[in-house]
Amino acid sequence: MLRTFLSITLCCLLFSTVHAYNPDDERYIDNLMSKMSLDEKIGQLNLTMGGDVVSGTAEAAKIESLILKGQIGGFFNVKGVDAVARFQHLAVEKGPHGIPLLVGADVVHGYATVFPIPLALSCSWDSAAVAQMARISAIEATADGVNWNYSPMVDICRDPRWGRVAESSGEDTYLGSVLAKAYVEGYQGNDMKSDSSMMACVKHFALYGAAEGGRDYNGVDMSRERMYNYYLPPFHATVEAGVGSLMTSFNLINGQHATACDWLINGILRRDWKFNGFVVTDYGSVDELSRMGIAHDNEAAAMALRAGTDMDMVTGRYVADLNDALKKGLLTEKMIDDACRRVLKAKQRLGLFDNPYKYCNTDRVNHDLYTPEHRAVARDIAAETFVLLKNDNNLLPLKKKGRIALIGPLADAGNNMAGCWSGYCYPESHKSVLTAFREAVGNEAEIIYSQGSNIYYNETMQADCDWGRRISRVDDSSAHSEALLAASKADVVVVAMGESCEMTGESSSRADITIPDTQRDLLKKLVATGKPIVLLLFTGRPLILDWESENIPSILNVWFGGSEASDAIADVVFGDKMPCGKLTTTFPRSVGQIPLYYNHLPTSHPDHDSSRFNPYCSNYIDVSNEPLYPFGFGLSYTTFSYSAPTLSSDVLTADGVLKISVEVTNTGMFDGTEIVQLYINDPVAHIARPVKELKAFKKVDIPAGKTAVVDFTVTSDMLKYYDAELNYGCEPGEFSIMIGPNSEELQKLDFRLR
Ligand code: NOJ
Repeated sequence: MLRTFLSITLCCLLFSTVHAYNPDDERYIDNLMSKMSLDEKIGQLNLTMGGDVVSGTAEAAKIESLILKGQIGGFFNVKGVDAVARFQHLAVEKGPHGIPLLVGADVVHGYATVFPIPLALSCSWDSAAVAQMARISAIEATADGVNWNYSPMVDICRDPRWGRVAESSGEDTYLGSVLAKAYVEGYQGNDMKSDSSMMACVKHFALYGAAEGGRDYNGVDMSRERMYNYYLPPFHATVEAGVGSLMTSFNLINGQHATACDWLINGILRRDWKFNGFVVTDYGSVDELSRMGIAHDNEAAAMALRAGTDMDMVTGRYVADLNDALKKGLLTEKMIDDACRRVLKAKQRLGLFDNPYKYCNTDRVNHDLYTPEHRAVARDIAAETFVLLKNDNNLLPLKKKGRIALIGPLADAGNNMAGCWSGYCYPESHKSVLTAFREAVGNEAEIIYSQGSNIYYNETMQADCDWGRRISRVDDSSAHSEALLAASKADVVVVAMGESCEMTGESSSRADITIPDTQRDLLKKLVATGKPIVLLLFTGRPLILDWESENIPSILNVWFGGSEASDAIADVVFGDKMPCGKLTTTFPRSVGQIPLYYNHLPTSHPDHDSSRFNPYCSNYIDVSNEPLYPFGFGLSYTTFSYSAPTLSSDVLTADGVLKISVEVTNTGMFDGTEIVQLYINDPVAHIARPVKELKAFKKVDIPAGKTAVVDFTVTSDMLKYYDAELNYGCEPGEFSIMIGPNSEELQKLDFRLR
């Protein structure tokens, strides 16, 4: 303790003599930069990757040598505060000018305590919960040395084949923007100088969620009107919330690489939105420019920097090529200075020049990680994210009595509960659903367990997506038989099936998004027994559930709920907590309908009855246009009825407000929570507008038998959009406003904007 204190004091003294100005002052950066060589400035633009860096290894030696040469501005994914502290001390005490390092990590939905995957979190429609999860993530990650976080991921996703839909907030721009802001506020806290705040890095700029065919790393071709109206606003929301940094994306945008898009980074981000943070590439993107035929090898770095990308993640090309590129006239020295200044300012914003060791308190790690308090919050939030898709005859909640068969490859797989991007947790110590169920029922009921099947029949396919979170292999045929035997002894069968946790996330696109083969076969056999069946669906994306929705009485979508998922599942299955989540992505009936999203544009030959085929209408011969489960949909154990809504006036003026009100009554037996949704449609505009767009929502607790009055304020801002010339505004005329429990069951009223 005393040693740490002395070393901090010494270091601050060292700093104050070397750099005369207050570390918060702009002149501090001027003064520092005036002493830096061109190569040292370029060094600040280099980001290298760590891993489990242990002293004396080649990886550690590489980082140490970069630090000593002043060729590194930061590193990422180095695990553990001890390693971080070692490198930070080296940088400050032995590196040129003693400049502290950024320490990055992907803390996407929790650190040691893991919360549900972001797609699940979005289904809570609860920005306070998201902000709380981000705050706890920041407390834990900063205790372990991290000061810069590669989250939130705010890509809008309309294609569930893309694995990274799991990391997103779903398909909606408005909800995505509200939650994007909450992430940033939670990570960065009220004061980024606090020891428990880390700088957020919003990603991936931009349009990555629209990768063609849902295939990861594929290109995007998109109109400006679409990107401005739907894909860019969540990024803008984080800029307005003061996000400190931004990561570019891997994809092509209309033939240009996102990392080298001047109009996007220098233009929209910096000029139009006034973003004053710094921009980092995604992993290896500078090399992609030459690989994709956009730049010659040694010109790629110049191209990215010219477009406004300040920091190069892992390729080392800025360090290798920028100096030469400058000599060739491919960029100016000012561009390097500007980028270096932005990186140094980020360090200043984090308070690293005041105290470079603020994230190196090796004591905190013993107290702040995976605490009972954090885990209790994670358990509560997880329960909020589950979506009850079906519940015939109120099969759920289950009573804690009799014999309950728990079957499926995810039933005793605690290591799979955390979901993708959970590299800093302890998956082997996470409780399985089986253990949680046994603890929940105690002696009151018997839980009969059978694994029942593998994830896939094909062992290689299963291994390809287990990424170290292995689920035991069994012989499918005998496992199916054992499961049927278990079911035959039970009063009710709970099936834990779906995707294993790494089947979504980066590099996890799927073309067939059904429940994998052996599991679905087993499910069919279990249904044939005639026993009542509850499906606990594990997934990181919408799945095609056409058969399941017809044949399984109860389906509870539990996504991947994090380290405390199993207890949260038991809480909801046995009725200690109510399910209240609602979908933030549309569940299609068939892969052939994709992309299928609720806020689509009108079609030229619309269908009068889109649930069946009509010639010369925009529909398919073999499947209806309707989703299986629409955006905004989710049931509860209780029921809600909506009164006819009322509007305060049928005329809205440009600077006026309207109030829309609806009475929502809890008509069931349990206290519950309802997410009331408000949509708007502009039937005639400069350009065709979506059939409906979410513009507001409220989450309300309503006791059984009680009624809540839910009000929304409508302003003309909610009616604005970008037209084909990218003018932003709204036009006088008729509008419809719709209110209801999901994007399909809506009651409509009309008003006029004057
Ligand atoms: C690649 C991913 O696309 C990005 O989201 C992540 O932050 C970086 N790798 C760093 O791990």
